Amino acid sequence: MAAESKFRYMRNPLAMFGGWLTTVSALLFLGIFFADLFGLHTNPYLGIVAFLVLPGAFVFGLVLMPIGVYLAHRGERLAKPSLILAWPVIDLNQSHTRHIAAVMVFLTVANVLVISLASFRGVEYMDSPQFCGQVCHTVMKPEYTAYVNGPHARVPCVACHIGPGAPWFVRSKLSGTRQLFAVAFNTYPRPIPWPVENLRPARDTCEQCHWPEKFTGDIVKQVPQYGDDEANTPSITTLRLHIGSGNDATGAQGIHWHMAPSTRVTYITTDPQRQKIVFVEVQDKNGVRKFRMPGVTDEELAKGERRLMDCMDCHNRPSHKFDQTPEAAVDGAIQRGLISQTLPFVRREAVAALKTVYPSQAAAAVGISQHLTGFFAKQLGPQAEARKGDIAQAIATTQALYARNVFPEMKVTWGTYPTNIGHVDSSGCFRCHDDTKVTADGRVIKQDCDLCHAIE
Ligand code: HEC
Ligand code: HEC
Ligand code: HEC
Ligand code: HEC
Ligand code: HEC
Repeated sequence: MAAESKFRYMRNPLAMFGGWLTTVSALLFLGIFFADLFGLHTNPYLGIVAFLVLPGAFVFGLVLMPIGVYLAHRGERLAKPSLILAWPVIDLNQSHTRHIAAVMVFLTVANVLVISLASFRGVEYMDSPQFCGQVCHTVMKPEYTAYVNGPHARVPCVACHIGPGAPWFVRSKLSGTRQLFAVAFNTYPRPIPWPVENLRPARDTCEQCHWPEKFTGDIVKQVPQYGDDEANTPSITTLRLHIGSGNDATGAQGIHWHMAPSTRVTYITTDPQRQKIVFVEVQDKNGVRKFRMPGVTDEELAKGERRLMDCMDCHNRPSHKFDQTPEAAVDGAIQRGLISQTLPFVRREAVAALKTVYPSQAAAAVGISQHLTGFFAKQLGPQAEARKGDIAQAIATTQALYARNVFPEMKVTWGTYPTNIGHVDSSGCFRCHDDTKVTADGRVIKQDCDLCHAIE
């Protein structure tokens, strides 16, 4: 009775349940952990169970055990108030007690190990693009789809959205918890609004991999456009973009001048999307210049959002770039040979199929296929059979363009997320470079066609 009585409180049902919960979740966790180590699972939902739910259950079980013991202890005292319940005497001279102490030390080390493994993998897992992009799949589908097709597909979401250091990590987990509730209770906005207001300044994130001093010279970009005629006649604009920052030997300046170490551009915007810019202040080697939109009152300026320009003010779609129009999407696909330019009127018809409004991506796939199959059957008649391969490829590509850009369930469609690079499909550079904002001495932010690029 003596030895047993020291541990009789562990028989409390709550404590026993705690012990059971801890043991089972630890075993399951370790099982999945090692399977994961050897690459045996890829399901993102299993990750939630393995790295968030199981460790939670494990710790919960650990907490239940002392509570159960305490309750049992209190129950006994209430039942027999006369009984003086002394603390058990731990006498390491007794071999039985020594064994129990050894087991306790072992269990504690095992617990610490499981908890550290779990927190390490839990954090790593929550930082993975899988977790960010696939677990909330409807919500993040547009951004994830654009991401895997973009130039940063190998850069984890957290490199841009959180960056290094503990403070932003904590901030992101707090806002992540809020977002989890929004998803659970279906209160999240559709589409997900932009800009991301509290995005970490780009100097901390982008500059881990790119830095403005590196930019020199020109890059050449070809912007294709095809006609709506039978031959889908091409016209290609070749832009030679001056992307320097004034840091090369020639001192030639260019587009990344805004980001040169000696330049600071601040602006005031009056709409939440930062598309209407009414005031710009520059500080650079040549001093300070303030450009102001005529007719804007001091009150409007005071009410606007003031922001230090960084990479994101131009590269707002570095990783989630959507085609701005069906025309641009189809032109790009023809240029890359994904739609055969030799199919008559294919540009016009693919654009028309993409412009139709469908209730879902599945409906769009069917609609696009019917539209193009029907059109080519009529247009080509008996020759359609010979072009079967090209037609099938045109259909598959057009369906993919739709699935890449339009997400009816998230209310995302062509142009929902405009890009600030350029000025043709959205205001972009011309938000500032519009020849209207002036300094006191009459200087404007120029729109000269050769300021940013040469057109060949
Ligand atoms: C190369 C950097 C980069 C990477 C990598 C990246 N993002 Fe973004 N993301 C951004 C920037 C910049 C914005 C802000 C756009 C704006 O403010 O207009 C953004 C915006 C978003 C938005 C808000 C909606 C929108 O489209 O503006 C969501 C949601 C998002 N990202 C999710 C993700 C997910 C999920 C991943 C990983 C699968 C990811 N991002 C990876 C840079 C990145
Ligand atoms: C972890 C490293 C990393 C980070 C962080 C990063 N990038 Fe990149 N970025 C790359 C790599 C690598 C490429 C080249 C991809 C290629 O050539 O296909 C690239 C390419 C680019 C390009 C050229 C895109 C194109 O279409 O060819 C731009 C613009 C760019 N990044 C902007 C940004 C901006 C803006 C940020 C911050 C929001 C950022 N990057 C953050 C690694 C990074
Ligand atoms: C004033 C607008 C603007 C700002 C601010 C800006 N960029 Fe750019 N950047 C451009 C334009 C325009 C291009 C040309 C490519 C294009 O049109 O897509 C470019 C090109 C690039 C490229 C591709 C270069 C290449 O050789 O292919 C990278 C990488 C890049 N920028 C990163 C950055 C980073 C990082 C920052 C912040 C430090 C930044 N940019 C700030 C406008 C800007
Ligand atoms: C927030 C306002 C703003 C935006 C947006 C903006 N710029 Fe500028 N940019 C300026 C200002 C201000 C100047 C300097 C005007 C002056 O002092 O003459 C400038 C100067 C320039 C210069 C000349 C730099 C030099 O060599 O002196 C280039 C090139 C340029 N911008 C390209 C771009 C491109 C390309 C974009 C769009 C991708 C863009 N800018 C977007 C404000 C802006
Ligand atoms: C402030 C810088 C700036 C100025 C000024 C400017 N552009 Fe551009 N332009 C750009 C950038 C950046 C792009 C986009 C490059 C890309 O697609 O990445 C672009 C793209 C274009 C394109 C390709 C269009 C397309 O379909 O994508 C044309 C055409 C063009 N510009 C013509 C002009 C003309 C004409 C002027 C003079 C009125 C002009 N630009 C002035 C920065 C500028």
